[in-house]
Amino acid sequence: MESAWAMRYLRWFLPALLASATRLIADPLVIAHRGASGYLPEHTLASAVYAHALGADYIEQDVVLSRDNVLVVLHDIHLDTTTDVVARYPERRRADGRYYAVDFTWAELATLTVRERFNPLTGEPVFPDRFPANGVSFRLCTLAEQITLIAGLNRATGRKTGIYVEFKEPAWHAREGKDLGANLLAELGRLGFNRAADSVFVQCFDAAALRRLRTELKTELRLVQLIGTGEEQASLLTPDGLREVAAYAQGIGPSLRLLTRPGADGRPELTTLVRDAHALGLLVHPYTVRADSLPADLPTVEALLDLILQEAQVDGFFIDQPDHGVRAVARLP
Ligand code: G3P
Ligand code: CA
Repeated sequence: MESAWAMRYLRWFLPALLASATRLIADPLVIAHRGASGYLPEHTLASAVYAHALGADYIEQDVVLSRDNVLVVLHDIHLDTTTDVVARYPERRRADGRYYAVDFTWAELATLTVRERFNPLTGEPVFPDRFPANGVSFRLCTLAEQITLIAGLNRATGRKTGIYVEFKEPAWHAREGKDLGANLLAELGRLGFNRAADSVFVQCFDAAALRRLRTELKTELRLVQLIGTGEEQASLLTPDGLREVAAYAQGIGPSLRLLTRPGADGRPELTTLVRDAHALGLLVHPYTVRADSLPADLPTVEALLDLILQEAQVDGFFIDQPDHGVRAVARLP
């Protein structure tokens, strides 16, 4: 009887105790979102270099597959929001008018020029004050290239910046005949990442696809369940949903909007999400802090960062301008 009670105690309270201890001994992680994407075109090698130089703890890579199964660092399954594919390969659009990375070999993708994210209908930049569209040629890169770059920078500087990979739309890839999750684990393994202690997180919005990495593909890597504000993911936020996530993942990556709600005095107040996740031993890494696109009820990036770090006590956060994140962590008492 006593040992059954002790086991129950350990099962429910040990993860929370470990999570609290981790927060006491480790600073929150500054995760450079798509590299230093607030300053240079997202997911380029230049953006990764700058994120490293600004002191990010982790650098994020979103990945999709090319036709010849190369993992490409790209946020969208489409190419027409960040590259010159329309001008270079006009005949390669699908019936829906879009251009898909999976229709191109890596050799073809490598010829494209990358620029700051833009609206493909108007050509207007999404963030007007970021890096200008013309004059400098950036390129796409593979996941292997970006990881090799970060490893090289780590060696040259003595830093230990990690990688934080999101596999994009695995169900869509499956309908195209591609196993994105399995390809990703194979590539990470080839590059030396296969243990929980390695400096890598793997993240995904698709809960079934993320769970499969643990249950079917038996990865030991740390997994993070992304949670957006859409109705289809609302069940993950319930106590049962979070408990299910804790069975296969080390953390959650919720939208910033799930951390707060409007307060009576016009200032945002915290939801219980961070506390609920911590009680299950889950890390919490919300996305995305953007100094040039702030929530209406938080006037400065400093106010936003101090709220999520000092009041919500998150364990890390995705940010487009990593230098702001590094300074906010330095402000912690
Ligand atoms: O992966 C965290 C965050 O990047 C999720 O949103 O659309 O920027 O990939 P997204
Ligand atoms: Ca992402």
